[in-house]
Amino acid sequence: MKLNLDLAVPSKKAWIDAVIADFDSFLQDHCDCERKASAMAMSFVAKYPDRKEILPDLIDTGIEELEHFKMVYALMEERGIPLQHSIGEDPYLKALLKLCHSGREERFLDRLLVASVVETRGAERFKMVAEAVKEENLQKFYKMLWVSEAKHGHIFVKMALNYFPEEQVYERLRWWVEHESKIIDSLEIRAALH
Ligand SMILES: [Fe+2]
Ligand SMILES: [Fe+2]
Repeated sequence: MKLNLDLAVPSKKAWIDAVIADFDSFLQDHCDCERKASAMAMSFVAKYPDRKEILPDLIDTGIEELEHFKMVYALMEERGIPLQHSIGEDPYLKALLKLCHSGREERFLDRLLVASVVETRGAERFKMVAEAVKEENLQKFYKMLWVSEAKHGHIFVKMALNYFPEEQVYERLRWWVEHESKIIDSLEIRAALH
């Protein structure tokens, strides 16, 4: 069952063009994003240890993202690409997090919904990468990732539905989808996931 909402705007063609033009830089950024996604899932575990209903899904997500990190790094090693030395902040994530509520319960809901939207955007972009790369192994790899991130997009909404009424979840998720589209459109285009 589909639980997340579709994105309000598609990524621009200029974005995938920038990625293909400098795929090495894209891989470096992508690798960091997978590690950060794993850390984010595990930070939910650390912050909300009493939310037993969602701990198994959070731990599974943390492991899956770390597996993605491992696979992207293996690809980088094969190509002789090093991990990034200094990790710059992700302007996309920063802009989204700035919009989160500050009250404990509302913030919890916002963080889950932001995670869903970020995963949904990741899935959309990995699909674009899968369709744009020439090498067959990369096509397969990014297709696998796109399916996995799309699944994460659903899981975070499922988690929210454990604690908040459906109406509240979807009203707020619509708000997030709308704001995410403004943020993604305002970003400088670069060979990075965001
Ligand atoms: Fe991932
Ligand atoms: Fe993910």
